[in-house]
Amino acid sequence: MANITVLGGGFGTALAVMLYTTQEHEITIWSAIPEEIEAMRRDGEQKEKLPGVKIPNGISLTTDLAVIDNSDLVLFAIPSAYVRDTCKKVAPHLKPGTVILNAGKGIEEDTFKLMSTVFAEELPQGTYVVLTGPSHAEEVGRNIPTSVVAASSSATAAYLVQEWFSSPTFRVYINDDVTGCELGGALKNVIALCAGISDGLGYGDNTKAMLMTRGLHEIERLGQALGSRTNTFAGLTGLGDLIVTCTSMHSRNRRAGMLIGQGVNPADAVAQVGTVEGYYCCHAAYGLAMRYDVEMPITEALYRVLYEEADVREAVQTLLDRPKRHEYEKLN
Ligand SMILES: NC(=O)c1ccc[n+]([C@@H]2O[C@H](COP(=O)([O-])OP(=O)(O)OC[C@H]3O[C@@H](n4cnc5c(N)ncnc54)[C@H](O)[C@@H]3O)[C@@H](O)[C@H]2O)c1
Repeated sequence: MANITVLGGGFGTALAVMLYTTQEHEITIWSAIPEEIEAMRRDGEQKEKLPGVKIPNGISLTTDLAVIDNSDLVLFAIPSAYVRDTCKKVAPHLKPGTVILNAGKGIEEDTFKLMSTVFAEELPQGTYVVLTGPSHAEEVGRNIPTSVVAASSSATAAYLVQEWFSSPTFRVYINDDVTGCELGGALKNVIALCAGISDGLGYGDNTKAMLMTRGLHEIERLGQALGSRTNTFAGLTGLGDLIVTCTSMHSRNRRAGMLIGQGVNPADAVAQVGTVEGYYCCHAAYGLAMRYDVEMPITEALYRVLYEEADVREAVQTLLDRPKRHEYEKLN
């Protein structure tokens, strides 16, 4: 039995409920937002983000980070934009060697840094593991069979997460390709925005399959440039997460894309939907593509739509009009 603090009341609540109902861990959910904790106490659920999923009384709710003083594992489930600041607040409470488990998916927008780098800079005393893969909160919170990957450069920490999180309905694989797993989790949101735009434009399944498959190719190309293993992208954290995010109505990235495809201004679409990691990640991914000189035409087309007011239909046409080539050119 472990003492686990979950930071964040969205996906974090789903993971906390799954852990509490399938294991014997001591679980606390922390939020930076007092009103969120108050509402969860009052309603016995996270009504806004996870309606219908009861929060068992045994899960503690707090806004006090001192709870981390006694934690064996601190699970971050907050949007990537808030990770660095939250790390700074967590730092004084974190014992050396505590497992830091990041369930967030994104790239730091201004620096283009992967979350593993942000955590290494801000919480070097922790042992970093990323938890990623196809795992919508709405399903995890209801113990619907799900499989994810715990990736770390520390085999001990990865095994610990596998041990503490595995249950009859939640299967955890381990991996040591942290960069590949993080890139797959972050960049599938970019492709999901495109898949949503395609749906919003009224295009078909063929178009979406094209975006997903060619999207995976360009994610792999960036992964190769950053030193990740190609086969990581064929796994749960790449292909698996891409499928779930591009095809499900649970995906906020896809929903925001649909609005954009229907003619809503990108910034307004994001404001309507809430946390749309792909919007910020597209900026970072485009920056990484430039920095490492990697061809990422779908990411670039989306960048032009999101940040340069490019017309969505014309953006799709530029993809279709690209030079004819071999399917596996620039990918070994
Ligand atoms: N929702 C999912 O199904 C899901 C699944 C897998 C991974 N993720 C990833 O997990 C991360 C969180 O996603 P989410 O859906 O829970 O997002 P969310 O928008 O629901 O926010 C989660 C929590 O972040 C906290 N938060 C909000 N503002 C904050 C601030 N300024 N400082 C610190 N904490 C703050 C709040 O407690 C909030 O409940 C994202 O990176 C997302 O990509 C989400």
